[in-house]
Amino acid sequence: MRAGLAGICDRCGQPSLAREPALLDVGRPQKGETVVVSAAAGATGSVAGQIARIVGARVVGVTGSDDKSRMLERDLGFDATVNHRSDKLREDLAAACPNGIDVYFDNVGGRVLEAVLPLMRTHGRIVCCGAVSQYDSAGPAPGPAGVPGQLIVKRLRMEGFLVSDYIGEWAQAQEQLAAWVAADELKVLEDIVEGLESAPRALIGILAGDNVGKRMVRVAPDPA
Ligand SMILES: NC(=O)c1ccc[n+]([C@@H]2O[C@H](COP(=O)([O-])OP(=O)(O)OC[C@H]3O[C@@H](n4cnc5c(N)ncnc54)[C@H](OP(=O)(O)O)[C@@H]3O)[C@@H](O)[C@H]2O)c1
Repeated sequence: MRAGLAGICDRCGQPSLAREPALLDVGRPQKGETVVVSAAAGATGSVAGQIARIVGARVVGVTGSDDKSRMLERDLGFDATVNHRSDKLREDLAAACPNGIDVYFDNVGGRVLEAVLPLMRTHGRIVCCGAVSQYDSAGPAPGPAGVPGQLIVKRLRMEGFLVSDYIGEWAQAQEQLAAWVAADELKVLEDIVEGLESAPRALIGILAGDNVGKRMVRVAPDPA
């Protein structure tokens, strides 16, 4: 049984607000901490980053384009952004996170994870959500430099999760997310591609970063 969405957290024993599990249960961001989110303009990252902002953390998004970065800072309240295509990614991240990183919500693995690890603060938490940088590679990528050394020296916790672990909290999560949307605290980004015949291109495009928000394929008109 994982931490509930409301009531007492069965991991930390603290009273919990209604919560979105992945970031809040595994990452446990605190007010004032620095949270870095990769694929931050995507479906998962844009929500995780906004929830981190809602709980009072300082949020830094990693994206693959300056347009996406501008949108996150202008429309979604991210405090800073970094472009993962930069050839000085670690320096850019260090400049965006002058106090280090308390929580990293990792959607991509690979080069971004490797750049984040040396910047993690002692007792930091890495939420392993996905590894999109490796989904179209020929074989398994080598593990990032810094594992296990950085984990040991800084007593980091690196933990994966699957959304299905939280199926029991689904309804409460929907309720909380809907309340944040209604209060205009959480914005939903939708990226709709028309026609079933577009599905392969829509999927490949996600790996190339050509989506902003949740990519969906519309196969028929919306119900009236
Ligand atoms: N653990 C779970 O239960 C669970 C559930 C759902 C999804 N996931 C995972 O969460 C991640 C995000 O999924 P999503 O559906 O929300 O997709 P998404 O973030 O909407 O789209 C993926 C984004 O990843 C970025 N990207 C692609 N290649 C990259 C690379 N080499 N380095 C850095 N960024 C790269 C692209 O944005 P840029 O333009 O910024 O590069 C792209 O838009 C995926 O890894 C997915 O498998 C996990």
